[in-house]
Amino acid sequence: MTIETDFELNKVYTGDCIEVMATFPKNSIACCITDPPYNYEFIGHKWSDEEVKRRTGRVKDSKTMVKNIPYGSGLSGGVRNERWYEKNRNNDLEYMQWCEKWTNELFRICKAGAPVAVFNSNRSIAHVQIALENSGFYTRDILVYKRNSGIPRGLNLEKKLEKMGVPNPEKWNGWHSAFRNEWEAIIIVQKPLINNYWETLQETNVGVFKTVNNDGSFQSNILENYNNKSKDEKFDHCTVKPLALIKKLVSTLVPFHKDNIILDPFSGSGTTLVAAQELGYNFVGIEIEANYIPIINKRLKDTKLQKELNPTLF
Ligand SMILES: C[S@@+](CC[C@H](N)C(=O)[O-])C[C@H]1O[C@@H](n2cnc3c(N)ncnc32)[C@H](O)[C@@H]1O
Repeated sequence: MTIETDFELNKVYTGDCIEVMATFPKNSIACCITDPPYNYEFIGHKWSDEEVKRRTGRVKDSKTMVKNIPYGSGLSGGVRNERWYEKNRNNDLEYMQWCEKWTNELFRICKAGAPVAVFNSNRSIAHVQIALENSGFYTRDILVYKRNSGIPRGLNLEKKLEKMGVPNPEKWNGWHSAFRNEWEAIIIVQKPLINNYWETLQETNVGVFKTVNNDGSFQSNILENYNNKSKDEKFDHCTVKPLALIKKLVSTLVPFHKDNIILDPFSGSGTTLVAAQELGYNFVGIEIEANYIPIINKRLKDTKLQKELNPTLF
């Protein structure tokens, strides 16, 4: 099946992805790999580069806060009273409602059998999953993206008691309010098949995953050792994903075919688009923040095609 696309291929669009996706034709996208903001406070607001810099600047010297991700929504402090929990609950619900707006558009433009991979924090992945399912997607798995290290967040009780002047704070040595976070979730959902995998594959060229690794082993749902970014992977964007990890997702989730278009509606610095381009796939990106567009375009310009990685299957 040849797809007629209204959009230009291998390009990044500037704008709100909910509006931009609404202009794309239905059943045109083979795979979406994306990393939307995890922060509730940004919902309903433009993700402003200036605001991100202001926030990350505020936590620059903190040993406990994540330094490269802007925190928000009062999640990082406050008296744990009823109001606090209510505010957080409302943030979660608003986040889910916002997710459902873009997952609805995404569902419409995906082909039958198209896999969708969405990164999120382990605290909020469930909300993204429900939004995707409410839009019509079927959940296949949650991949664990294991990072080498995690920054302990939350309250160190001994330190807190010491500051408060409570006697014998050392009794609480090693007691903390949270675990060291060592992984991020990647929810994998799929647009319903046409009867079965083979019929779908013949009709839309997607539906199954490439599970054999280079060493012959069977790919598990834990992705590790993709952590290290090379020095060339430092861009003026605060949440760049490792290129090797995204290339692994591209080559696992979508068979190589000229009609298989990969989408990232939250392109950021363009890692998904660069991965797609390196592997020879057609792609389309969307990014709301105009300041990031030159970063993406420069990365794409500097990207070399690695054709030999993907023999044509069709
Ligand atoms: C977590 S970052 C993605 C980073 C990306 N994975 C990378 O490796 O560079 C999320 C991006 O989504 C963009 N964004 C936020 N809301 C958006 C929206 N409604 N439409 C399009 N892009 C949006 C932000 O500007 C930000 O660059």
